[in-house]
Amino acid sequence: MKIAVYPGSFDPITNGHIDIILRVSKLVDKLYVGVLNNNAKQLAFDADERVAMIHASLPEELKKNIEVVAFSGLLIDFAKQVQASLIIRGLRAVTDFEYEFQMALTNKSLLPEAETLFIPTNTTFLFLSSSMVKEVARYGGNIDGMVPKEIKDIVLGRLKKD
Ligand code: COA
Repeated sequence: MKIAVYPGSFDPITNGHIDIILRVSKLVDKLYVGVLNNNAKQLAFDADERVAMIHASLPEELKKNIEVVAFSGLLIDFAKQVQASLIIRGLRAVTDFEYEFQMALTNKSLLPEAETLFIPTNTTFLFLSSSMVKEVARYGGNIDGMVPKEIKDIVLGRLKKD
């Protein structure tokens, strides 16, 4: 069984993340989307809300292969817990690379049996980040195409200023 984890903050999940999830789900037997719970970032949504939004955004037919789970602590401990041998990270631009490379090498030194797999993002989503979505939503901009339609109103409802 080829088991992978795709970790992140997902605050909120974007169409860029969904694109990676759908592509990777075709390559592995089981994909765990790991939602980081001990995040130092200022988050708009708690872990349960982020898990629920991802779950609502996934196509029904893929839900038997994909599990969305919140985790705390080290990523490698989560990977060990779910017996994953692959860590998936999306790369948007060269600017992502240095940080991602450092993280991959750290994880490799902590858990040598796991490999990090970098997936280049779809060019449509090159510019996208969760912070950008929140910024646009906060000021009443149009977030169609940035987040799954299933969570658009939840995101706008939380972020939009009166
Ligand atoms: N499409 C759109 N946006 C994307 C994207 C894609 N394909 N890939 C990444 N992003 C964006 C995210 O939306 C996020 O945007 P934001 O900064 O505006 O919120 C940004 O890129 C960073 O991605 P994120 O998913 O939040 O991951 P991260 O870089 O914060 O890393 C973990 C999160 C979970 C991988 C990492 O912090 C971790 O493993 N933590 C656990 C502790 C640990 O083990 N540490 C040691 C590892 S070195």
